[in-house]
Amino acid sequence: MAGRVEGKIAFVTGGGSGMGREHSLLLAEHGASVIVSDVNEAGGRQTVADINGKGGQGLFIKFDVSKEAEWKAAVDQAMSTFGRVDILVNNAGILIMKTTQDTTSADLDRMLDINVKGVFYGCKHILPAMQKAGGGSIVNISSIAGIIGMAGAAAYQAAKGAVRILTKSVAVEYAPFNIRANSIHPGVIRTPMTQDFLADDRTEKAFLGTTILRRPAEPREVSYPVLFLASSESSYVTGAEIVVDGGYTTM
Ligand SMILES: NC(=O)c1ccc[n+]([C@@H]2O[C@H](COP(=O)([O-])OP(=O)(O)OC[C@H]3O[C@@H](n4cnc5c(N)ncnc54)[C@H](O)[C@@H]3O)[C@@H](O)[C@H]2O)c1
Repeated sequence: MAGRVEGKIAFVTGGGSGMGREHSLLLAEHGASVIVSDVNEAGGRQTVADINGKGGQGLFIKFDVSKEAEWKAAVDQAMSTFGRVDILVNNAGILIMKTTQDTTSADLDRMLDINVKGVFYGCKHILPAMQKAGGGSIVNISSIAGIIGMAGAAAYQAAKGAVRILTKSVAVEYAPFNIRANSIHPGVIRTPMTQDFLADDRTEKAFLGTTILRRPAEPREVSYPVLFLASSESSYVTGAEIVVDGGYTTM
């Protein structure tokens, strides 16, 4: 049986850990060749080794998504290796948990550099490759923090809100080129990013108390919506936001 993204070329950022690793593995299981990128070289290389070990095709590129020149070089390398890019998953990101008044100017710069500019540059530099290929699918990883208010994460919320709306700009601008762009808004997912948060009884109870499915998700539960948006199954879905939060934002 053919995979759901058979023969496609996918580019995943932050593929060395947590959800990005799982998105990379699932896309590869469904027939895509995957460019796994990360600043975490050991993690990224492990993901590629796991893809290749299962008979898939992976390529690791180490680069920092917040640096535009590095994005350009990475896309050039992907193009010279595979000749096209069909899918971009802008997943790399950081979390800073601080109140508004405790957030320093350096925190804000770092947050916006990685979580907003990283996604913006990714779209900007992959778009010409997708235009050349005759179309493509961009999946930007936002968060429920980009939709509803929370305490103690103002910079993160500002960044994820920006990702939500810039995704819609790209969807509108590039629809004529057969390029779709959608955002995914995870709730609490069990990854290294949420390890401390979930280990703390009080924060875990507070968060999961309002999650109607009463549990955090495993990374793969977000990878399946990524796969759907990446594949042609979602051919009429663009500018949309898929919330994957166990019902956290429902009530
Ligand atoms: N875990 C959650 O509950 C949750 C919820 C909502 C949204 N998200 C978002 O999902 C995405 C993945 O998060 P995760 O939980 O898997 O986290 P994670 O920390 O396990 O993985 C993030 C990866 O991004 C990489 N990265 C960080 N800065 C980078 C940079 N400048 N350049 C390149 N790579 C960089 C890290 O090295 C790491 O491998 C993030 O955008 C995060 O904000 C996570």
